[in-house]
Amino acid sequence: MRARASRAAAIMALALTTSVACRTGPPSQPGDPMLDAIRAEERQGDLSYVESQGKHLFLHYCATCHGDEARGDGQNASNLSPPPPDMTASKSILDATLLEKVITQGSAAVGRSPLSPPWGRSLSRQEIDYLVAYCQSLSRKKTQKP
Ligand code: HEC
Repeated sequence: MRARASRAAAIMALALTTSVACRTGPPSQPGDPMLDAIRAEERQGDLSYVESQGKHLFLHYCATCHGDEARGDGQNASNLSPPPPDMTASKSILDATLLEKVITQGSAAVGRSPLSPPWGRSLSRQEIDYLVAYCQSLSRKKTQKP
């Protein structure tokens, strides 16, 4: 009786820890093959996972002005003065600190027009990092495709 009861308790404890562990979800390890597979699927072209996430956000939030390929030819670009620059040809995108500042606080924060809006309160830290990574990848694409 006692043995069975303690076995039942052990099973209960095990079930409890497993369910708690599942719910909180241990941080995924870099070597996780499942995660690698998901990440590989989400990767676009020659972009890394992080850059692809940034591109996804860029298409959603920024492309209306900046254009799908960040060339400054978004649907709304002709309404803007100054217009958004062709980021693939811009030296600013090499500077991660500047990018982060423009995205978080808006272009006015770096002494330009206020036309690029701030996203610091509506996008997460993580999303802004993804966007910075994507903007930086644009310089690489340019050197590969002349
Ligand atoms: C309402 C239109 C608009 C939206 C939306 C917008 N931008 Fe901009 N962005 C601009 C304009 C216009 C400029 C040029 C501002 C200037 O130089 O005064 C600019 C400039 C920039 C620059 C500086 C680029 C360079 O090469 O110097 C970065 C980086 C940038 N935007 C990032 C973003 C990101 C990332 C998003 C989306 C999260 C975004 N912008 C959304 C209009 C926009």
